[in-house]
Parts: sequence; structure tokens; C-alpha cells
Amino acid sequence: NPIHQKHYLVDGELKKWNGESADVYSTISSTKTYAPTFLGSAPDMGEPEALNALEAAVKAYGKGQGTWPTMRVRDRIECMEQFVEKMKTKREEVVKLLMWEIGKTYPDSLKEFDRTVDYIYDTIEEYKTLDRDSAKFEKHAEVMAHIRRGPLGVVLCLGPYNYPLNETFCLLIPAILMGNTAVFKPAKIGVLLITPLLEAFQESFPKGVVNVVFGRGRAIAGPIMKTGKVDVLALIGHSSSANALQEQHPKSNRLRLVLGLEAKNPGIVLPDADLDLTINECLAGTLSFNGQRCTALKVLYVHDDIKDEFNGRFSEAVDKLPFGNPWDEGVKLTPLPEPQKPEYIQELLDDAVSKGARILNKKGGKHFDNYIWPAVVYPVTKDMRVYEEEQFGPIIPILSFDDIEQPLDDMAESNYGQQVSLFGKDVYALAPLIDTLANLVCRVNLNSSCQRGPDVYPFTGRKDSAVATLSVHDALRSFSIRTFVASKDN
Ligand code: G3H
Repeated sequence: NPIHQKHYLVDGELKKWNGESADVYSTISSTKTYAPTFLGSAPDMGEPEALNALEAAVKAYGKGQGTWPTMRVRDRIECMEQFVEKMKTKREEVVKLLMWEIGKTYPDSLKEFDRTVDYIYDTIEEYKTLDRDSAKFEKHAEVMAHIRRGPLGVVLCLGPYNYPLNETFCLLIPAILMGNTAVFKPAKIGVLLITPLLEAFQESFPKGVVNVVFGRGRAIAGPIMKTGKVDVLALIGHSSSANALQEQHPKSNRLRLVLGLEAKNPGIVLPDADLDLTINECLAGTLSFNGQRCTALKVLYVHDDIKDEFNGRFSEAVDKLPFGNPWDEGVKLTPLPEPQKPEYIQELLDDAVSKGARILNKKGGKHFDNYIWPAVVYPVTKDMRVYEEEQFGPIIPILSFDDIEQPLDDMAESNYGQQVSLFGKDVYALAPLIDTLANLVCRVNLNSSCQRGPDVYPFTGRKDSAVATLSVHDALRSFSIRTFVASKDN
């Protein structure tokens, strides 16, 4: 049954929306025709509602004197615990919508939900430790200081479509637990799955702490930024959106940024790599959720000595991956949720082929609407769009190399610096190379594909890949500041 989402949350009130709504479609077909399925509609709000939500967050923060930022730590934790308990009762509804709205497989949708619940519990535990660590006395050179960690103010929180629950909450949960207040706008794809959680927000937190509005980014986030009343822009998505929003803030240099952005993580396959293991890891790394992960392996460098064997076996393995709808047993590949994505993938393929690359796998690039087969493209050169752009989809560029300096030079030149995977047998002999890689990116994965988890590890990037660090350990720090009261020890 279609869901017509009519409510939004502002100043502790679940308000009924009577204005324009935007239709929500799934690219998954409910018949064999590949036609999109109508899922329902969500409010298409504009500037007045955006500004009301912002005012509610500003009022709840109350220049740092509001109930929420001044609340005792254990009371804030209690609100968060209440929220997560209520959230858990919505598991089935949210998981179903994750499958329909973004096409994530059933096991991965369950994982997204459960991982988010764990993340909230772990963040609460970290917060208890953080509070103990930070609220302490220190004395240096006769000056006694009582150090604490406090909130930054009002946070605008914008999440991505590929993890519409998990990554949004990786921003929102630590932000509010630290005593900030927030306006949160769900991603356009994955908008309905927030609906079942609106009541939980309303019932668990004091009014104005979490405000949820729906609509297009430009209509909501733009006017909010222009007021200059946002202290933190928390966004996981594209740097073009982050830059545009940052520029709209009248005092952008004092805006705190917590950003997870693009990446072009390379996988480097050395001549002595264990090919069975490497092929499995590269399949998962390039094609989990059809490559729509910032942590996906987005370019492979394969040593000349093994390129023929690797390319042949890898291409065959890609063609054997089971394709279907998210709820189909054992399925690995699913339809892409962005309506225009197949067209974009085709453009990248045409560009690569026109510049001399071949599609190595038989099924590569074939599609019926948004059901698109991954394409393995080789030999890729640096003038091709698929080398330059973050494809965020099922197209795998491969380059070969004979000297390790080549991938290292490319990484040094790249605009991105999130992670790398290194495949080779004698990893101990590789220690100097590992050190070099660690100075180019933020996580070096040995004989394993790139990924964000376990969520306790720092999740960040160099250059255009991130600003600030997210993780159970770091996010609370990213959304707060250490202050202290000093007195002379007379
Ligand atoms: O899209 C970026 C996500 O942070 C990827 O997370 O590595 O757990 O899939 P993941």
C-alpha cells in the first residue's frame, strides 16, 4: 500500500502537512515489466517550514542555556536510550522501506538497521567515558583548570541515499547526545523510511532538540544556511553540495564542518597476491550495494605479471553474481535507486570505449531500466572519465602497472584520500610501502577490501574525501569543543 507521509516534526510537535507533496517511486518493479513502482509521497516543503524548524532548534539551544545543552549527562543518556528502544520496535517497517526505496538487499538492510542500533548504544557508552575523561581538574603553572566538553550549537544534518538511516544517524546521534540541537532533512531517496521514527524522536527528546523536515536540499538547506544561525554543517554526500551550502553561510569561516565526501579508493594487486582471496575481496569491494558506497574500491591496479589471469577470472566472477530484487535469496546485485544512473554509467562506458578501453565481461553494461550489469573496463587510462570521476555505481576500471610508483603517483595526484587495499602475500616485506600508503590515505587494508567498519575505528579522509572524523570514538569529539574554567591557585 502506498505511504502518504504527511507529518513533520518541529518544536516537539508532529505537524500535519497540507502543502505540496512529491511522489516517491522505487526503481524496483513489482511486475516483470521493469516499470517503476509507486511507493507514495512525502512533503515537499520550502523556506517557511525550513526556517521554522531552524528557529525551533535555535530556541531549544537557547544560547547554550536551553534545557538540552544544560541537562545532566545521565538525563540526556536516558532520552537517547528511550529513543533507541522505540526505534527497535520499527525494525521491520524500516527494513522493508530500505529494500524498496534504495534497493538494498534484505541481509544488508537488516545490517544497516542493526548496525545503527549498535552504533547508538556504543556512542552512549563512549559518551559516559568521554564525560569522565573531560570533566576533570588540571593544574599547570599555578593555574587550576576545570576542563569539560560542551556542545557547539545548532547542527544542520543532511545524510546520503546509500545509507539513509545509518549514515544520517552517525551524524545526528553524536551531535545531539553532545547537547547540540538539530534540523535534519532526510535524503530525497530513502525519505519514507524515516517516517516510522518521527514519533520516537518526538516522544524521546525535549521539544526543538530534533526537528525533521522534508523536501529538496536547495529549498530547505539553502535558506537555513543563509540565516547564519547554523553552527555545524554535518553532511555525508557530495563536496559540490557541501561547498554550495558552506558558501551560503554569511560567516562561513566560523562554521564547523563535519563532512564525509567522495573517494576513489584504489585496490593494488601485487604479483604474488593470492588470487582466490583477492578476487573475492575485489568483488565485495567494488560491487557491494552495486558500488554505491563511498568506501567502495573504485579503481583497480593490477601488476603486469598477473593482469591476464586476474582480469579473466575477475570478469567471469562478476558475470556469475546473482542479480535480482532485494528480497530474493542470495542476491548480490539489485536495481540502482537513482533513475538517471544507468544513463550516466553508459556515458562513462562510451567515453572509455571511445578512448581505447574494452568491456571485459560478457554481460557488462547490459541493462533493463535500472537493472544494470556491472562492467569491467580495461585498459583504463587517465584521460577517461571513469578514471577521473567517482562512479558510485557498477563499473570497474582496471589499470595495469609494472612499477609500484605508478599507483603511488596517481594516489598522490588524486583529489581524494580515504582508503586503499593492498593485495600481496609477503606483507611484512611491504612495511615501507604500507607506511607510504598510510601517508596518502587514512586507512590501509591488507588483503581485504575497503570498508568503514567496525564503527569504532576512525572514519575520515584526506584532501576532498572528508572534513573531521566520524566513528563511535571520534564523532562525539567532532561535534563538541573542550572548554575550561581557570582560576589562580592562591
Ligand atoms: O558510503 C560510504 C559508507 O560509509 C560505506 O560504509 O563501508 O560500511 O559500506 P561501509
